[in-house]
Amino acid sequence: MLFIPRSSRLFRVFSNYASVRCRCSSTATRLDTLKKKVEKGPDLKEFITGTTSPTTLDPLDIPYLPSSVKTVRKQKVYFDVYGCQMNLSDTEIVWSILKNEGFEKTEIEEEADVFLVMTCAIREGAESKIWHRLDHLRGFKRRRANSKHKDRQVKIGLLGCMAERLKEKLIEKEKSVDVVAGPDSYRDLPRLLAVTESGQTAVNVLLSLDETYADVVPVRLNQDSVTAFISIMRGCDNMCTYCIVPFTRGRERSRPVASIVDEVRHLADQGVKEVTLLGQNVNSYRDTSQHTIKEPTRIAKGFTTVYKNKQGGLRFADLLEKVSAVDPEMRIRFTAAHPKDFPDEVLQVISSRPNISKLLHLPAQSGSSAVLLRMRRGYSREAYLELVGRVREAVPGVGLSTDMICGFCGETEAQFQETLTLMELVDYHAAFLFPYSMREKTTAYRRYKDDVPEEVKKDRHNRMVELYRRKCQALNEAEIGLTHLVLVEGTVKKTGQIMGRNELYLKVVFDQTEIPSEDGGKRCMKPGDFVAVKIVAARASVLTGVPLFHSSITEFYRHISWGDRALRVDG
Ligand code: 5AD
Ligand code: SF4
Repeated sequence: MLFIPRSSRLFRVFSNYASVRCRCSSTATRLDTLKKKVEKGPDLKEFITGTTSPTTLDPLDIPYLPSSVKTVRKQKVYFDVYGCQMNLSDTEIVWSILKNEGFEKTEIEEEADVFLVMTCAIREGAESKIWHRLDHLRGFKRRRANSKHKDRQVKIGLLGCMAERLKEKLIEKEKSVDVVAGPDSYRDLPRLLAVTESGQTAVNVLLSLDETYADVVPVRLNQDSVTAFISIMRGCDNMCTYCIVPFTRGRERSRPVASIVDEVRHLADQGVKEVTLLGQNVNSYRDTSQHTIKEPTRIAKGFTTVYKNKQGGLRFADLLEKVSAVDPEMRIRFTAAHPKDFPDEVLQVISSRPNISKLLHLPAQSGSSAVLLRMRRGYSREAYLELVGRVREAVPGVGLSTDMICGFCGETEAQFQETLTLMELVDYHAAFLFPYSMREKTTAYRRYKDDVPEEVKKDRHNRMVELYRRKCQALNEAEIGLTHLVLVEGTVKKTGQIMGRNELYLKVVFDQTEIPSEDGGKRCMKPGDFVAVKIVAARASVLTGVPLFHSSITEFYRHISWGDRALRVDG
């Protein structure tokens, strides 16, 4: 264990980011005694070999635990994933790192030695769920300690955004937590976990400017799934005033194109039929390791940005082109795209490649220009609507999805009405609707008042949901009689029906049966199959269909584009 004098400059640097702390006792007195001991301890330099200047120190290289110290017994890890798809993708990175170090994975709580909880901090509600889970894990840990298996002590690690937000405070608040690791410190996890073997707690919440885990090949948690997620970038520079993400995930950085394309190829070889490229704002993707002409990101009329546009390198349109060319039979989706930088090149690639999903996520957040200004979104209602028109023209038949927040600081009833009218106008196929939740550290926290009462937020949220469902019902009913290309994902547990998703990522269910296959015979359907399905009934969140024949993306769209699908003659 590394002892750093509290007075040293390095202590401050280090304790902010990575620390290992003793958990000899939970009482404040014992902690105080320990702190005093630490103050008298030897200087850090005595522990660091070959390091001359503290400012050049890479915290991951700090030998606070010799790298030879590894866990002896194969430990079993139980993963809990909360929050967004990025968290799922991060968990697969974590699992890859731990698997390499000899850890095993379990889905049975009783077998677990380590519980790793991938956390979300975006709204208070997300954090409440995690505190609730921690209550359960604390009890589990206590029961194990009092059982005949007490030699197999349970360790609890909190990873991700909530870990980054609360840092050491997390351990102070929840004594059962042993490890706290932020989104950029997953390579350090084996050592952090090894530290806990001797009863200490370990924290590493250092944010990085360049960590993309590009060289870590994620290991999928569900190996049977025909769909997968790939992180193409990390962090966010947008600083929307309501959002905690720039503080928990750090500065924006892109992963090199080559490593992304390799991963897509690897997934295609494993039989994956759909990948979703993930980033907080995929359209600002730049692989600057590639030298190309210095072409800045172009911002459309009516849009502004808070950060300096990147120049040179490969852009998202280039990446999308390369990724979609890996396997024309693999469907490509991506999320999220900030409306402020949606270049025509990206739209051209989407419309020209049948294997790129025709559902675009264009998070509006509000329909009121005044609210959008307070949110620092960089566009007005009018600019957003103009973009919607441009997208619809460039990609016929495109579906749109959105995120919307109601009850943001200062939102009046009239301003909320503008959100409703925007939803009426745009016809979203999918929407993620949230009541505003004030987060510490954000600009809104510092500058505005969370002045919309909770019951008003709740009422506005209900009204948004009600409108959204009504609109979806109508949109989905318009699909009745049309034929969609559906990727079969699995079966519906309750009914045993086949479940898949169409080009707009809408859920489609239908009965299992033998249907004509490409080779002239007939066969049943299985996950990973592309099937032409005629839609016969619609609800707000699911379409019901009749399967017609097995197909492929290339075959289905040989003579017809998604936008003209109504013209398709049924098989
Ligand atoms: N309160 C409510 N919703 C939020 N989001 C982000 N921050 C907040 C917040 N403080 C929503 C935005 C974002 C989505 C991922 O979560 O709509 O697009
Ligand atoms: Fe948050 Fe805005 Fe970045 Fe999205 S673009 S992650 S809402 S700061």
